[in-house]
Amino acid sequence: MSDEVRVRPAEPGDAAAFVQLARAVGEEPGGWLLGTSEWRSVGDERRYLKALRRHPGAAAFAAELPGGRVVGRLSLAREGHPASAHVADLGLMVDAGHRRRGVGTALLQAATAWAGGVGVTKLELHVFPWNEPALALYEGFGFVREGYRRRHYRRQGEEVDAILMALFVGESET
Ligand SMILES: CC(C)(COP(=O)(O)OP(=O)(O)OC[C@H]1O[C@@H](n2cnc3c(N)ncnc32)[C@H](O)[C@@H]1OP(=O)(O)O)[C@@H](O)C(=O)NCCC(=O)NCCS
Repeated sequence: MSDEVRVRPAEPGDAAAFVQLARAVGEEPGGWLLGTSEWRSVGDERRYLKALRRHPGAAAFAAELPGGRVVGRLSLAREGHPASAHVADLGLMVDAGHRRRGVGTALLQAATAWAGGVGVTKLELHVFPWNEPALALYEGFGFVREGYRRRHYRRQGEEVDAILMALFVGESET
């Protein structure tokens, strides 16, 4: 990763920057995210980030530049059922102007470190089949394709497919 970018646990004060980031990424023509401009409000995001303090089963990380500008977000939540509490689902995004500099990889490394610390042994995620940058990032990091979920998400009035990917923590990440 570029020396300038630091990954740290997210704080409630990151809410506005995260919402701005999500809106910008959501509006990209690539259609990478489930949501577009209607991502959650700053208030909802702040409440979510505050609630993380009381929930050891979830976490969020920010990637920030030295001046404090946030250029990446990753969040994770472990499954609620005790039988699958060793599994956590994640989502991430990096500002378009700061991609291909290792920020996504650094956020994934923070996720695997968090997982190792709380007893999560499997990370999973969904990615749209057309999202070649994300597929390349995840496969390069060691995630493998576990399934193909047809018409799994409703997105802008359309049912779209998603690839389910997973990584056993500590086994193959870079
Ligand atoms: C996918 C995403 C998170 C990658 O973040 P990033 O910071 O650019 O990732 P990295 O710089 O760590 O990339 C690591 C490797 O992944 C692969 N990769 C990443 N972007 C790629 C691209 N556009 N084309 C091909 N390979 C790519 C490369 O192997 C890259 O290594 P390299 O740059 O040395 O060749 C970023 O493109 C993004 O935020 N996209 C929009 C939101 C999104 O799709 N989120 C994921 C939803 S499931």
